[in-house]
Amino acid sequence: MQDLTIRIVNQHDLCEILNIERRVHNNPWSSETITQSIDRLSGKKQAGQVQKDGFVALRNQKVVGYLFYSKVFEEIELTNIAVDFDYQGQSIGGQLLKQLVDFAYATQSLHIFLEVRASNTGAITLYQNVGFIQTSLRKNYYPTQRGREDAVLMTLQLSQIQQG
Ligand SMILES: CC(C)(COP(=O)(O)OP(=O)(O)OC[C@H]1O[C@@H](n2cnc3c(N)ncnc32)[C@H](O)[C@@H]1OP(=O)(O)O)[C@@H](O)C(=O)NCCC(=O)NCCS
Repeated sequence: MQDLTIRIVNQHDLCEILNIERRVHNNPWSSETITQSIDRLSGKKQAGQVQKDGFVALRNQKVVGYLFYSKVFEEIELTNIAVDFDYQGQSIGGQLLKQLVDFAYATQSLHIFLEVRASNTGAITLYQNVGFIQTSLRKNYYPTQRGREDAVLMTLQLSQIQQG
């Protein structure tokens, strides 16, 4: 398998991220939403202990996946993760998550939380494999083409897993 590089996102990645976003998500983020979710893209300096940033995964200098997060004091929210269709099932999502967990430990964060559509069983399995557990359910939270569906809230308590 070819080498995978994971590094911090920068503005030159935006176009490739947007293309993947439109391919893999039913409700893709707009260019503006992506820009606003990363301080180094929006040019905004967040106040105090707030940080919005992300990682990209590259194969042969090509962006094949990304992960965005928002960190507020000791709490990290995973706001978006995606891997391009042709590269799914090759552990890239898992490696992006591991990068976030390593960052969380390095910054003495207490937990990582996220929200996922109840029908997204692939992503839920990925999160469970890393140690996330379901903490809550928001009924009928997301719109779908046929109505609405629940949001599953999941949390990874960092003190409860082994780093490595
Ligand atoms: C969810 C997503 C990021 C996973 O990325 P990935 O690179 O394919 O995931 P990995 O290859 O690292 O998978 C790791 C584990 O997660 C689980 N998993 C991932 N995708 C799965 C799927 N479609 N079905 C079942 N299990 C899945 C598997 O247990 C897998 O372990 P295995 O390889 O030992 O079987 C990717 O499928 C994606 O971009 N989906 C569309 C966007 C999305 O739904 N994002 C999440 C929004 S909350």
